[in-house]
Amino acid sequence: MSVESNLRAVTTLRLTEMKQRGEKIAMLTSYDFSMAKIVDAAGVDVILVGDSAANVMAGYETTLPITLDMMIYHAQSVVRAVRRALVVVDLPFGTYQGNSKTALDSAVRIMKETEADAVKIEGGEEILESVQRIISAGIPVMGHLGLTPQSIHKFGTYNVRAKEQAEADKLVRDAHLLEQAGCFSVVLEKIPAALAARVTSELHIPTIGIGAGGACDGQVLVIHDMLGINKDFSPRFLRRYADLHTVMTESVGRYVADVKSCDFPNEKEQY
Ligand code: KIV
Repeated sequence: MSVESNLRAVTTLRLTEMKQRGEKIAMLTSYDFSMAKIVDAAGVDVILVGDSAANVMAGYETTLPITLDMMIYHAQSVVRAVRRALVVVDLPFGTYQGNSKTALDSAVRIMKETEADAVKIEGGEEILESVQRIISAGIPVMGHLGLTPQSIHKFGTYNVRAKEQAEADKLVRDAHLLEQAGCFSVVLEKIPAALAARVTSELHIPTIGIGAGGACDGQVLVIHDMLGINKDFSPRFLRRYADLHTVMTESVGRYVADVKSCDFPNEKEQY
């Protein structure tokens, strides 16, 4: 009896090899089956089931309200679609800070219930014990430094982080601590390009940037932003590859007009 392997083609080890070869890593978010299928087939290396689902899927202003159950639902839908990419799932706010046993329980739930490949956690030294405990259970962890949206109420703004020397020094220290703890990669969000370049050159694990310049080993964007579905968000770092907001609005408008005018359905579109 043959059993089809569920192991996907991109592994954490492969990402390290890509860094060593100088091959850039393409990462995008996805939250549902249909989108993940397209993103995977188009050749993205890492799919992040980000807690940005709180914003773009659920309409919350911050990422804080999303729950572990909601993240698991999104991750299950994504994993069912993906054949090649590595699937990483965000641990949501309140499921890993302050208590490493809770952190491990949350990560284990994600791995068991979704069959994803890894989890991502925001923060450095302050969450190191949680990172170590999760990794000790054999679960790969991606770090996340710089602008960490789960701490928005502490920052008070979504502006660029680590422009001051003290914060930049802490970020470099945190990046090394995450690498030493066994993280396979680290996201650097909205920090000066020169600082991201320094971290990237000092670490052996790949850095994935968002608003952190071109020296990072890879890049990540939120899929709704890069496809232009969401028009309200236009930071300098965002490159829009489509204007789906216009395409979708015009398409839905044409459908409404066709229904109202009795043009749809016609004789060929009925039984
Ligand atoms: O939740 C998310 O989409 C993220 C990316 C912006 C890195 O964490």
